[in-house]
Amino acid sequence: MSNINNTSVLVEQYKDDKNLSIRLALHQKYSTNKYGYINWIFDFFDFFDGTDVLELGCGNGNMWNDRVQKLPKECTVTLTDISKGMVDIINEKFREYPNVKTEVVDIQNIHYPDNTFDVIIANSMLYHIPNLEIAISEVHRVLKPNGKFYATTVGMNGMNQYLHEKLKEFNPKINVFNTPFPFNLQNGKEILNTRFENIEMYHYEDSLEITETVDLVNWIKSTSSMSGIEEDLNGVDLYFEKCKDSNGIIRIPKEAGIFVSTK
Ligand SMILES: C[S@@+](CC[C@H](N)C(=O)[O-])C[C@H]1O[C@@H](n2cnc3c(N)ncnc32)[C@H](O)[C@@H]1O
Repeated sequence: MSNINNTSVLVEQYKDDKNLSIRLALHQKYSTNKYGYINWIFDFFDFFDGTDVLELGCGNGNMWNDRVQKLPKECTVTLTDISKGMVDIINEKFREYPNVKTEVVDIQNIHYPDNTFDVIIANSMLYHIPNLEIAISEVHRVLKPNGKFYATTVGMNGMNQYLHEKLKEFNPKINVFNTPFPFNLQNGKEILNTRFENIEMYHYEDSLEITETVDLVNWIKSTSSMSGIEEDLNGVDLYFEKCKDSNGIIRIPKEAGIFVSTK
């Protein structure tokens, strides 16, 4: 098992939102698609009056910033994460909204009855799950008939591939970001197909244009892949300075998208 779905590594990585916030900030600052990934994801959602929404692995709930207020009447949103630290953060953040509930939930063991939710969201989290078959079966179980499951993830030809090659060139001892994500844009449909029949996939066009190298180095250091080998990165900032083009930009591809499945 790689660090990406190793439970003890993930517990440390997500004990609070420090690492996640560093990574979200890089995308916020340098993404070339200014529409915004979260805006794009929200355009897919089918919310109507009284929709019951469950988000699994919601992290610090950034997806709902300035959006809970705009939900149709009587929608409820249950925000959950396996990390108690994350749930403490969202509890504090959304405490004034009576339609928002927060709870610690493991996607592999969802403690809600069958057919509870109209919409279930798993945003950038399925690649962390050790047993995807059980997770997808649990999602399917608690989703109402005709309910929608929205799962976002990344592809195998984006940022990780670029960083794997660059870091290896910088220091051949660093062999990270080369393990295929267990749930990705290339294999996601096959995995969802174990329970869902009606699955659509959509790509989000985007890339990064980074001007301040320190932001990229902080992103790399924030990942679980670098845990325990941080000293191998000494001098990497100077290396990435040299990767800049004549306009002073480090250009990095991204590959991200969403699967929309119907029960
Ligand atoms: C990459 S973060 C994504 C957070 C948020 N969805 C976002 O996109 O900003 C992955 C999140 O999944 C959570 N997670 C990991 N394993 C989980 C599991 N088995 N069940 C529920 N959440 C899990 C982590 O604690 C973390 O908050």
